[in-house]
Amino acid sequence: MIDKDSILEAYYFRHACKVFDTDKKIPNDEFAFILETARLSPSSFGMEPWRFIVITDPELKARLKPHCWHQEQVTSCSHLVVILTKTAAITNDTYTTKMLGRLVKDKKEVEGLLNFFKSFLKEKITRFVTRYFYKKFTEDRPIYEWCARQCYIAASSMATSAAMREIDSCFMEGFKKEKVEDALDIDTDQEEIALLLAFGYRVNEQPKKHRLSLEEIVEFKE
Ligand SMILES: Cc1cc2nc3c(=O)[nH]c(=O)nc-3n(C[C@H](O)[C@H](O)[C@H](O)COP(=O)(O)O)c2cc1C
Repeated sequence: MIDKDSILEAYYFRHACKVFDTDKKIPNDEFAFILETARLSPSSFGMEPWRFIVITDPELKARLKPHCWHQEQVTSCSHLVVILTKTAAITNDTYTTKMLGRLVKDKKEVEGLLNFFKSFLKEKITRFVTRYFYKKFTEDRPIYEWCARQCYIAASSMATSAAMREIDSCFMEGFKKEKVEDALDIDTDQEEIALLLAFGYRVNEQPKKHRLSLEEIVEFKE
């Protein structure tokens, strides 16, 4: 078992790193480890509604920077990860059947689970989900939001595992989604960007951590 202090050390180590050392590149095996923790992340119904574009090309990072509030992280990082939602796949029976087929063996059971998944989407996520039923792409936002939620879990796994290896990161929502999607030639009928995550090694001392106390955010009902 990993001792609690070591785990907490990683949580204290992780911070929103604003400037990375451009001379330091994350070794391939370290980055493969970080990606593996994304792959192993949990997702609702095991749908894994994510895909990851890993950008190390300096020219491409420079082209993206203006669309990311000119944030220094984009160009100074070693690896910039673009996390995409598999928006279309989630409303595609071929994909969803394949994913659910891993959970149960029997064909009838898969069908039952698929129907349950569809009713889950319909009832739980929103009453506005229509694509699955009426194929109206314009009303797809809840599906995107649902996929994005899972993407954030994978992102959190990556940032934490990176910190465990003393690799810095920065979650990034500060970007113009359509512009970045254009620049990366993403077919937004298929997938969309949920968030960006930059990785590298810090230049500056990390700032003091500010957090509310547990008493302020936790309520026990015993
Ligand atoms: C979803 C998300 C999006 C964020 N977007 C940005 C961003 O675009 N640029 C940035 O500098 N920090 C960004 N942050 C970092 C937060 O500001 C930071 O995590 C928060 O202030 C707490 O500080 P700490 O991470 O250093 O502990 C983002 C964080 C999260 C979780």
